[in-house]
Amino acid sequence: MCGPALAVAVSRAGGLGFLGPNIKTQNTAADLAEALSLVESLRASSSAISPTTSYLPIGVGFQLWSDDLETAVSAIEKFKPCAVWLFAPAGGQKDLDTWSRRVRAASPGTQIWIQIGTLAEAKGLLSGVEKPDAVVVQGAEAGGHGRAKDGLGLIALLPEVADALAGSQIPLFAAGGIADGRGAAAALCLGASGVVMGTRFLAATEARISRGYQQEVVRASDGAVSTTRTLLYNHMRGTFGWPEEYSPRTIINQSFIEHQAGRPFEELKGLHDEALKAGDAGWGPEGRLATYAGAAIGLIHEVKDAGSVIRDVREQVLERFGVGEKEKL
Ligand SMILES: Cc1cc2nc3c(=O)[nH]c(=O)nc-3n(C[C@H](O)[C@H](O)[C@H](O)COP(=O)(O)O)c2cc1C
Repeated sequence: MCGPALAVAVSRAGGLGFLGPNIKTQNTAADLAEALSLVESLRASSSAISPTTSYLPIGVGFQLWSDDLETAVSAIEKFKPCAVWLFAPAGGQKDLDTWSRRVRAASPGTQIWIQIGTLAEAKGLLSGVEKPDAVVVQGAEAGGHGRAKDGLGLIALLPEVADALAGSQIPLFAAGGIADGRGAAAALCLGASGVVMGTRFLAATEARISRGYQQEVVRASDGAVSTTRTLLYNHMRGTFGWPEEYSPRTIINQSFIEHQAGRPFEELKGLHDEALKAGDAGWGPEGRLATYAGAAIGLIHEVKDAGSVIRDVREQVLERFGVGEKEKL
């Protein structure tokens, strides 16, 4: 859902936008090319987008279990994104080391960000050969794929990971359930250097998302009952092969309700495929399509441009920390 327009808009507003992984790794090069051309036209019109270096001021994400390393490395070498985000290795720390080494060889100035969801994974990073430049600590509230069974809420997970990595000097970024300045301020208090927001940007003007999906993110509330982690939607979409430690959080709809009631998968899949033809009407409480989103959906009330999301979150954080107008300048 995070394509070039959203990633560049986030970086332009002073955040760091990451392109999401593609279903096929080779499509990432096309996204990077489009992002580069957006950045170049912003620079030509002297709109602020920083920093002005040979590195592209956005990051790019890869899912290690499915992405092709050689294809990824050649795109990184060509476009030099300022950061690469690695997640979900099938082969654990060994795979993270291999990817990190190859990315650094191809583009030495590109930072390596690694997303983890357990204390054991965090400790594994310390035993790795290649240390990351940043660690994203993903709590159980997060939308999309996260730990299927051993996920922990961010408020307990982050400080424990911070203690475990205390000597490493690696900055931590908090992910999971942060959708406004209150969550962001709380995460900074827990020991994070910064925050990651995924679900909030599903409701950004620039997101690469169907309107029906986006409207459902705005409509839904009470993530405890309206979201769950399930592989059902992956399977109906034909996505198989995620390592068994992971399962995606999604807003539930008729597919999941009927699955719980015992309706056979083949019937659900048929109805899902029909719903695909219905376009935007395929989402919503009566819909059947995958609506991956996090537990904080109840905090998202409107579609806004990415720059406004970032400015609002920052304002709210500064207010909560009691930073006045004068100090801000
Ligand atoms: C629709 C969606 C797709 C996601 N896809 C990926 C992905 O491909 N790779 C990844 O590392 N994380 C992915 N994530 C998880 C994010 O990296 C992040 O952990 C999460 O969005 C943070 O929690 P939040 O959604 O509550 O903000 C996805 C999240 C969402 C909502």
